[in-house]
Amino acid sequence: MAGRYDVIVLGAGAAGMMCAIRAGRRGRSVLVLDHAAAPGEKIRISGGGRCNFTNIHAGPKNFLSANPHFAKSALARFTPQDFIAMVERHGIAWHEKTLGQLFCDNSAKDIIRMLTDEMREAGAQLRLRTEIGDIEQIAGGYRVSTSEGAFEASSLVLATGGKSIPKMGATGFAYRIAEQFGLPIVETRPGLVPLTLDPQLLQRLAPLSGIAAPAEIRHGKTAFREALLFTHRGLSGPAILQISSYWREGEEITVVIEPDIDVFALLKKAKQMNGRQSAQTVLAEILPKRLAQHVVENEGISGNMADQSDKRLQQLAAAIQSWSVKPSGSEGYRTAEVTLGGIDTNCLDSRTMQVKTIPGLFFIGECVDVTGWLGGYNFQWAWASGHVAGEAA
Ligand code: FDA
Repeated sequence: MAGRYDVIVLGAGAAGMMCAIRAGRRGRSVLVLDHAAAPGEKIRISGGGRCNFTNIHAGPKNFLSANPHFAKSALARFTPQDFIAMVERHGIAWHEKTLGQLFCDNSAKDIIRMLTDEMREAGAQLRLRTEIGDIEQIAGGYRVSTSEGAFEASSLVLATGGKSIPKMGATGFAYRIAEQFGLPIVETRPGLVPLTLDPQLLQRLAPLSGIAAPAEIRHGKTAFREALLFTHRGLSGPAILQISSYWREGEEITVVIEPDIDVFALLKKAKQMNGRQSAQTVLAEILPKRLAQHVVENEGISGNMADQSDKRLQQLAAAIQSWSVKPSGSEGYRTAEVTLGGIDTNCLDSRTMQVKTIPGLFFIGECVDVTGWLGGYNFQWAWASGHVAGEAA
């Protein structure tokens, strides 16, 4: 005899736990199943162990989706303030780091503890180390076969996340179930991921590995101003992770290092004021020394500032502030923070996350074709989509 519940949630991540809390608080009997040994593993490692749990500026413009309007309803019904209120109820200390990004003062584990405590109070049961097998639609709901036996419920919520970081248990399971039920999927690809460079360019940039600088990275009409990091594989840092979600194979990005400084004007002024300086010395005032040296050598600049024509200085400035580069690829799901694409939002009700044509079947969190920027937006989507599904399941 299968265990019978009102709601079964597959996946004890951010979205699944939030959904279970909301449904349980409504008096629904809830079972949460996960194959992992602990709930919220991605929360645990997020934000460098301090979990960037939301962003106070989170709004629909911070999300990528084939339907940019889809996320509006859920985001409006469960806001960053709602999550902050929960965090404060549990006495968790937090701070704003930068750009509206909120982090725990102590540990991401505080957020996991808060969610598991809330689930317990809401009466939701959690079963870990449970392998999920077949899912069938039965009269009055769904039957889920697992390594721990079969379970039935009138509502089934898929909250198993995306494909990013398979080493942490990501399986792409929700996409398989969507296919089983004939639901469309927007092509998935890694997002918020470092970009790689071809071996020749990489060899040239090898001395820069480990160097970071403030930058604006542009792709078409999209631009992000944050740190850029040179790595032994290519380019990383928050500005690159942000743009990676917009970039496609074969396309160029433009790198503007020190975007708040007019480097050409600075070089011209330095030439007038002290022509005996070297270009490298001038640039080292605004750039890390190794980067200044690399750019000067790479542009074949010799002699002192007085020897340089304005055209040469313009070329030098352009190498720093108008560098067009075609990444060879990305580091892929191995290191991607999120999965772009996913369950096509056209088949979901934006107020509840329920499949429009299949009563009782819900998809929430990262497996849905809604992907946030870096900076707490993805957790806000997980909380909001989980909350609205928990209100309806
Ligand atoms: P999530 O992946 O959290 O949960 C899915 C759950 O389903 C997991 O518990 C998994 O074990 C389970 N599962 C999967 N397949 C299963 C199967 N076949 N059977 C049973 N269970 C299964 N975002 C942000 O806003 N701020 C941040 O600071 C960070 N930091 C960050 C760091 C790193 C390294 C990564 C990889 C990601 C982030 N993110 C982030 C993104 C954030 O972690 C992500 O958007 C959410 O965790 C998505 O929540 P979900 O609940 O949808 O999936």
